[in-house]
Amino acid sequence: MAGLDELFERAKAARAQAYAPYSRFPVGAALRSASGAVFSGCNVENAAYPLGVCAETSAISAMVAAGETRIMEILVLGPGPGRIAPCGACRQRIAEFAPSEALIHLADETGAAETTSVSELLPRAFGPASLARG
Ligand code: THU
Repeated sequence: MAGLDELFERAKAARAQAYAPYSRFPVGAALRSASGAVFSGCNVENAAYPLGVCAETSAISAMVAAGETRIMEILVLGPGPGRIAPCGACRQRIAEFAPSEALIHLADETGAAETTSVSELLPRAFGPASLARG
């Protein structure tokens, strides 16, 4: 899938910029928004360890800063050789902006991806609809 290749290349390029001197675990993420634009991000750590930001969160921030709020698909690429899945906090952040049909691609170093969904990674999520009353 051409779209997946693009997400992989963007995530890989972002991962190359990861600032991860403490964990030495560089991560890249790339997402396609509703407009078709691609936004990427990498993890950015801090000497005050809890302040580190995940790659998925960085990509989401770039999307929102560009005026978009809908994730159609997102690809995550860890340091390899295997695949990683988003941490719990990032699953919640992805869920905030992802419709139920959104795809989450867990890529390995070769670009081969296992595709899953928000509902699979975060079942019974608390989300914007949970706040609706009445
Ligand atoms: N990390 C991500 O950026 N995304 C993930 O999905 C999992 C973990 C980062 C956080 C931290 O900088 C490093 O990887 C090790 O946990």
